[in-house]
Amino acid sequence: MIQLAPSLLSCDFSKLKDEIRTIEEAGCDVLHLDVMDGHFVPNITFGPVVIKGIRKLTKLPLDVHLMIEHPEKWITQFVEAGADWISFHPEATEDIGKVIELIKKQGSLAALTLNPETPLEVINPFLKELDFVLIMTVKPGFGGQSFIPEPLKKIEILSQKGIRVEVDGGIKLENVERVVKAGAQIIVSGSGIFKTSDTESTVKEFKRIFRNNIEKGLHSTSNNLQQKTVSC
Ligand code: DX5
Ligand code: ZN
Repeated sequence: MIQLAPSLLSCDFSKLKDEIRTIEEAGCDVLHLDVMDGHFVPNITFGPVVIKGIRKLTKLPLDVHLMIEHPEKWITQFVEAGADWISFHPEATEDIGKVIELIKKQGSLAALTLNPETPLEVINPFLKELDFVLIMTVKPGFGGQSFIPEPLKKIEILSQKGIRVEVDGGIKLENVERVVKAGAQIIVSGSGIFKTSDTESTVKEFKRIFRNNIEKGLHSTSNNLQQKTVSC
């Protein structure tokens, strides 16, 4: 199964409830929530208080992408706010293992996020503990940027080893097939969903593309979900 995770960053926040209902009814699987602190990335978004509100609006899993310094200080608050999945950037903390442990101890799924320039090897010591890896195909900080193709190689390597991969940045209907063929299992799209004229039909088209690729056997991890025992 390939999951679609719309990034709320590009939605119309004046209609947040309607936007969430639309994508939920159209068949989205996960909500991707981008948390930015103005330090780790040059942008500020929202924190646990808003996520707690979003939690009341949907039953979909909340996929919280932390782009903040010292994530260890905030994990408990995000879990209590309703974060089901939490990913963070290795550059943001001095103790990656401790942050993963904190996330998992409190019952959420943990992931490391790799910027386009961050080498894959960074995840090696933590592979056994990670639930998935988030590969960035833009520089983090803003929605609506252009897709960077070089990290596709990382997706291929990870997915061939049976590691669950989420991909984030610049993904639209026009290029999503490249990401799916590389083996990604969770696809984030912000402007590619919310900045289109018909959000609902865009979501359905994403899902149709996913189904097509699985049926054609082009998705490299179709039969190989969630094994994560091999290091890179
Ligand atoms: C960027 C964020 C992304 C962003 C994706 O820092 O992590 O989740 O919202 O937006 P698009 O799909 O427009 O690149
Ligand atoms: Zn994100």
